[in-house]
Amino acid sequence: AAAEKGGFAHFMLKEIYEQPKSVRDTVNPRLLNGLPSLGCGDLSGVERVHIIGCGTAMHAGLVGRAAIERFARVPAEVHVASEFRYGDPIIGKKDLAVIISQSGETADTLAALRLAKQKGVRTMAIVNVVGSSIAREADCVLYTWAGPEIAVASTKAYSVQLAMLDLLALQLALDHGRISPHETRVLCADLQKLPDMVEEALKLDASCKEAAAAYAKQEIAFFIGRGVDYPSSMEGALKLKEIAYVESEAYAAGELKHGTISLIVEHTPVIALATQSKLFEKTVSNIKEVKARGAEVLLLCGKGAHVTEDVADHVLMLPDVPEWLMPSVLVVPLQLFAYYMAAERGCDIDQPRNLAKSVTVE
Ligand code: G6P
Repeated sequence: AAAEKGGFAHFMLKEIYEQPKSVRDTVNPRLLNGLPSLGCGDLSGVERVHIIGCGTAMHAGLVGRAAIERFARVPAEVHVASEFRYGDPIIGKKDLAVIISQSGETADTLAALRLAKQKGVRTMAIVNVVGSSIAREADCVLYTWAGPEIAVASTKAYSVQLAMLDLLALQLALDHGRISPHETRVLCADLQKLPDMVEEALKLDASCKEAAAAYAKQEIAFFIGRGVDYPSSMEGALKLKEIAYVESEAYAAGELKHGTISLIVEHTPVIALATQSKLFEKTVSNIKEVKARGAEVLLLCGKGAHVTEDVADHVLMLPDVPEWLMPSVLVVPLQLFAYYMAAERGCDIDQPRNLAKSVTVE
């Protein structure tokens, strides 16, 4: 078993470290002459995108929505598969349903795909397991190439889902004429550099371990972020719940004051994500609000951010990357933080209690 883990203590850590390769293997085959080439036909007629998934896959969808709306200006919504399947979703014939699943076998996600097909809408699956049910049933499949993911908590599968959604956003933007081929090439070149940027983020390992040691005895944590940092904070909180059993909640930073701030007392951990320069000062003002109530703040931000000494108790500076790709880099220290928290707390990291890798029954 030790050999299977390639020298790492757990599959989760091994898979965190495989992310540069997984992203490279997923992006490269989908670029042709520097442009996205998804092979799912012309997307210029798509009027709305519905992204559907569960758990971490759904969080990837939330990040992907931001990229789609930003570049393609096509409205996109994200649905939790278990809600979608029993809801009465409003779907137009010209919409596109994007089904995201690592395993391709999640019962709720598969049912959601079938419902979308029944509604007569075009379906596209982003799936990691070749030949899985969702891959077989969707009209078009975009395989991610993370390789087998063994740890129950998803890491590398999330990263490749983000990369594929970035490609989809650019393809939609190009097909809709919202960005020129030249602009698209520039953005695709960014995307090709992503594996190296993720590699760079892995160098935060020791600092994440140190930060985790400082928080390991805490039973609750709040993650805050604005804009695209908000879905990242949801994923960071989910990781911490899944493997370290810390009650963690994610909030849009500006929403905290509408109730939840009552829970902030001396030493309450707040993990603040602030990777977007135009929102940075806004998030800093939220950090000041929680610090004034005694919170112990871990701030994750870009290298270029202007961080004064009193802002946070711990700071993790992310590598310099184009801001639209920040979620892909930011997730690495969030995964490592959860991993080391779980290790410090003596949890069974690869096999957390009550959880299954793939939920194939309802
Ligand atoms: C389970 C796993 C999660 C995963 C979710 C969706 O709950 O524990 O890590 O995100 O299922 O799985 P899928 O295979 O559809 O991506």
